[in-house]
Amino acid sequence: MQTRRARLDRLGLPALVAIALGACRGEPAPRYGQAMHEIGRRFEVLGRAAAAGRYELARYELDELNEVVEHDLPRAQAPQVGDLVGAAASLRDMRLALGRLDADLKHPEPGQVRSSFALTAKACNACHASLAHGFIEIPQELGGTVPRTDAGSLVRDDP
Ligand code: HEC
Repeated sequence: MQTRRARLDRLGLPALVAIALGACRGEPAPRYGQAMHEIGRRFEVLGRAAAAGRYELARYELDELNEVVEHDLPRAQAPQVGDLVGAAASLRDMRLALGRLDADLKHPEPGQVRSSFALTAKACNACHASLAHGFIEIPQELGGTVPRTDAGSLVRDDP
């Protein structure tokens, strides 16, 4: 988005930029569950790719996931139930963990990637618990289904 804007500015087409931005403003707000669905799908593929050493694919999935976090999630309305302050803290923790995961995937070392992935999943789960959706459990291990649909315990803390 930024690169496209920079390119248009260089071409001296600020009016076109304004129109394009206007079109963006006209976008309907995304649904929270839909944004989460995409985040979950991408986190799952990221984990499976990283488990197999397909780090380029994992990085791609992380970039796409970050787009949803930065672009869609802030415009979507989260369910207003539970501990909203705790959820905001978990969101911040998730973004920090995603940043760490990004750095690890650029210079992949399997142990580091695994631990950043687990850290991210913990932040996802903390937010789900805060907002009364603790039953949506994100696996802390690479390669699991997102969300977990196995019989594992929800109260289990560490992998
Ligand atoms: C700011 C709080 C918050 C964070 C952080 C968060 N989630 Fe969610 N997530 C929710 C809420 C709330 C729902 C239920 C959405 C609804 O009911 O509309 C949800 C739902 C989901 C779902 C179910 C979507 C569906 O309908 O299929 C998945 C999958 C999911 N989250 C994955 C993740 C993953 C993976 C992460 C971390 C990378 C994450 N979430 C981080 C709040 C959060």
